[in-house]
Amino acid sequence: MRLSDHEFLHIVDYVRGRYGIDLSNKRTLISGRLENYLLREGYRTYSEYIQLVEQNPTGSEAGNLIDVLTTNHTYFMRESLHFEYLQKTVLPWVKAKEEKRNRDVRIWSAASSTGEEPYTIEMVLNDFFSLDNRWDTQLLATDISARVLEKAKSGIYLGEQLNPLPDKWKRRYFRPINADEYQVVPSLRQQVVFRQFNLMDMIPFKGLFHVVFLRNVMIYFEEETKRKLLERIYQHMEDGGYLFIGTTESIDKTSADFQYIRPSIYRKKV
Ligand SMILES: C[S@@+](CC[C@H](N)C(=O)[O-])C[C@H]1O[C@@H](n2cnc3c(N)ncnc32)[C@H](O)[C@@H]1O
Repeated sequence: MRLSDHEFLHIVDYVRGRYGIDLSNKRTLISGRLENYLLREGYRTYSEYIQLVEQNPTGSEAGNLIDVLTTNHTYFMRESLHFEYLQKTVLPWVKAKEEKRNRDVRIWSAASSTGEEPYTIEMVLNDFFSLDNRWDTQLLATDISARVLEKAKSGIYLGEQLNPLPDKWKRRYFRPINADEYQVVPSLRQQVVFRQFNLMDMIPFKGLFHVVFLRNVMIYFEEETKRKLLERIYQHMEDGGYLFIGTTESIDKTSADFQYIRPSIYRKKV
């Protein structure tokens, strides 16, 4: 099936407008990922499909488009210096701040993909607060793709995916379910609240976050989209709250008032 210039630009415009994702130099990715699906579903042209998506942007075909076109690569302990910094610097600050308030730790994994990032954060939280049940350590994990959220909620991973984790966490938080796969124990799964959320939308979550993980997602956005997103996130953070971005990403100095701490770690002004 041929993807014409017109169809290509149409898909690029739609995805950029609705999800902020810039696919303008990803022509092969679009045709490579969509073609088989369209043929299987009996579409004759890309236009036929994109028109259907546009007519019902919250429908299943629109959901499928974003499932197919997003890149969801992630793994446990990715950019492990962030988890070390969380444990050694950020959580002591949260503890000191919240101890005399309501002992509520508010962390958001804002592009959580298949769950490896939020589950890693939750394991750090459990270690730090030693499962002290006076502390509310539930965390929010969101992504735009329903497919990755289903996978994240199931908490099922191949044995080899657990390799980066320390042995004590593998033993404590995973159970084998067959010869190849392990599942996150229910007590840890219940600590992570997964929701579908488009980072282009107004942030509907109540309460100000102490920590936001916004890692390896802004690479797909244009500068202006990034700037507006960072402003919205800034408004939803506690004073002194920490923002982690991917180690290959950067924040332009005019983006909100985030204070630079070290590469990929920023802070809202205290
Ligand atoms: C490469 S993964 C990053 C996963 C994890 N944060 C990490 O660093 O390993 C990027 C994720 O961003 C999500 N994403 C892309 N555009 C989005 C949007 N507009 N709103 C919410 N999530 C989005 C994708 O579905 C994908 O799961």
